[in-house]
Amino acid sequence: MSLRIGIVGVGIMGSDHARIFANDVPGVEIASICDADVARAKAVADAVGARDVAESPEALIADKAVDAVLLASPDATHAPLTLACLAARKPVLCEKPLAPGSTDCLEVVAAEAKLGSRLVQIGFMRRYDPAYVAMKAAAKSGTIGRPLMLHCVHRNVSAPPWFTSNMAIANSAPHEFDIARFVLDSDMAEITVFQPEAADPQARVKPVFMVLRASSGQLVDVEMNNNAGYGYDVKGELVGSTGTMAMRSPAHVETNRALTGSIPFPEDWRSRFAEAYRLQNQAWARAIASGTFAREGASAWDGYAASRIAESGLAALASGERVKIEMGVRPELYA
Ligand SMILES: NC(=O)c1ccc[n+]([C@@H]2O[C@H](COP(=O)([O-])OP(=O)(O)OC[C@H]3O[C@@H](n4cnc5c(N)ncnc54)[C@H](O)[C@@H]3O)[C@@H](O)[C@H]2O)c1
Repeated sequence: MSLRIGIVGVGIMGSDHARIFANDVPGVEIASICDADVARAKAVADAVGARDVAESPEALIADKAVDAVLLASPDATHAPLTLACLAARKPVLCEKPLAPGSTDCLEVVAAEAKLGSRLVQIGFMRRYDPAYVAMKAAAKSGTIGRPLMLHCVHRNVSAPPWFTSNMAIANSAPHEFDIARFVLDSDMAEITVFQPEAADPQARVKPVFMVLRASSGQLVDVEMNNNAGYGYDVKGELVGSTGTMAMRSPAHVETNRALTGSIPFPEDWRSRFAEAYRLQNQAWARAIASGTFAREGASAWDGYAASRIAESGLAALASGERVKIEMGVRPELYA
């Protein structure tokens, strides 16, 4: 029997997920698709051979012919629709963030903890990227000694017109917060946020530079630069007491000519993290088929943690002060 999934929201991310499920995830059938733009839903349904187009996300979640749900609609819809999936006891892969605010994340955490079964995975796909997986393994095994520092760089070509400096922290950086927690296997205890004084004072989106202290004693720095101009460039380096592990560019080729060597940069995250999205979706489907939770997957609690760190980062940016990240009590379910 194949796993019958429903997809809510088929814009940039949802249509990419639909293509991945249709082409690269064995044992999955796309049963239903829903989008506020019905023509878009129909076009994607035709392209991936989906059986049905649902009239609302709620109808899709309630559909008996849908076993599990992928949410790729806008951020504000994630928590209410995840709660609807929990009420229907259906596994859900929810694109990040679980919710823009940590209070809404905690509502999902509480509902799942009450159910006593982990059904919610958050789309922090970098946990499946081979480079971060290798860094986590090195941090654990001691190959480069005791982990001391993690450098993270996140650059986009250009920010869309609706983007703001605060969104660099609230919308883009949660990927960095989650991967720092994942690689170091630690919560983050405090955060300070800086912006370069040299930045154009009129700029709508300024770069942000964050310094976090992990509960397990490491330092993490994160450069967010949403208007880097040259390409989508995400990289990291784990510094240990006896060596370092740095991510190499995942480019397939280097062109050498006219006394110069060059490598191409992707335009955005879809090609840069194509392997991670594929491995994430395969792991999610496999875990559901075997009645488990994907081992490396981000839980609802991880989704809450990323939003909580982002909120603390926004407070640190506003105050110019170092801000403690208060996490509260983690329910047993996520131990
Ligand atoms: N994991 C990642 O790397 C990553 C990257 C980019 C975006 N995202 C997240 O993915 C989500 C989608 O982002 P996107 O870039 O695809 O956005 P998008 O605007 O391209 O797509 C969103 C789609 O949802 C539809 N929609 C809006 N309201 C809806 C509703 N109530 N019910 C059903 N459909 C609705 C829209 O019509 C649109 O087709 C966001 O939450 C975003 O934060 C994750």
